Amino acid sequence: MTDFASRLIVWQKQYGRHNLPWQNTTDPYAIWVSEIMLQQTQVSAVIGYYSKFMVRFPTIAALASATQDDVLQHWSGLGYYSRARNLHNAAQTIMDEHSGQFPQDFDTIQTLSGIGRSTAAAIASFSFNQVQTILDGNVKRVLARHFFVEGWPGAPKIEKELWVLAEKLLPKQTTNKSIVAYTQGLMDLGATICTRSNPKCSKCPLNGTCEAYKQQRVHALPTPKPRKVVPEKNITMLIFLRGNQVMLEKRPPTGIWGGLWSFPEVETNHQVESIVLNQFGIIAKASITLPILSHTFTHFKLHIQPQTLEVLKLDTKVSEPGKMWIAVEDAIDAAIPAPIRKILNLLQNKNSI
Ligand code: ADE
Ligand code: SF4
Repeated sequence: MTDFASRLIVWQKQYGRHNLPWQNTTDPYAIWVSEIMLQQTQVSAVIGYYSKFMVRFPTIAALASATQDDVLQHWSGLGYYSRARNLHNAAQTIMDEHSGQFPQDFDTIQTLSGIGRSTAAAIASFSFNQVQTILDGNVKRVLARHFFVEGWPGAPKIEKELWVLAEKLLPKQTTNKSIVAYTQGLMDLGATICTRSNPKCSKCPLNGTCEAYKQQRVHALPTPKPRKVVPEKNITMLIFLRGNQVMLEKRPPTGIWGGLWSFPEVETNHQVESIVLNQFGIIAKASITLPILSHTFTHFKLHIQPQTLEVLKLDTKVSEPGKMWIAVEDAIDAAIPAPIRKILNLLQNKNSI
């Protein structure tokens, strides 16, 4: 039997993915953007965003000179917005410190915001044909199964073990195209064959050496993350309505939805009326209470109670920077998180404004 890498490369050429929008290019910028978008997001969700992003920001220079709001607007709905802020920041670093050229040195690539070891390796192998090791969530799953590595792959000790294995598996003799096929093959195998549930082991090029398959323990691996109770938070979003307009506030630059536009929020169970008068300089009358929306973040679960308020009188201070009144249909296209878009769509469909 040929080695792990050779079997994967042969398999990738025949059964792997070859026509994704970020393939068939060696432009490190195009590859970098795709790798960042794909970090916590599935290919199917990324495709539409990717093309629009690349049309609006075709080069590192174009991205670097854009406003953060513009960048976030093109990320709006993809989630994990620190990815977009880091991408923007790194583009500026490349302009300022690397003469506008994406660095080729593997260690230098990793100094850029938002680029860790695995992402750097993907970019270096796809753009510069460097023989570097990737280890994303999909690859961890493949290796944990193939080598029967027990323990949650996110734990530092297990992760280290997987890095060592991944390094040893790299193809020994490489032509330019073989490292691309190998890296892409690991990703493709994890996404299409060695999937989390119902892996298609009978079609897997690695089934002859896979320890989990041999022991019929495929479903036991990878070991799941030890479950902690996720904290839950209840907030009420205040949707001030003035004619067809709503008020949005720009969120602080860091934290959840950093830099995005959202509705003002208070803890649920506050008396909405008194808050309105005290904090916002707006006299408004509570109107419709929309259904609660829940959104799961990495570290907690958020339950949003949307409360519309009809504005009766407005103080001058609400036209401060960081606040805007905007028509509902325009707000939908702004740099807003997905749940806010959901609420705005509800409002628009209700025709009740
Ligand atoms: N996930 C991360 N990188 C990817 C790529 N280049 N193709 C498909 N899925 C990916
Ligand atoms: Fe994954 Fe099954 Fe292939 Fe093993 S044989 S690597 S478990 S798909």
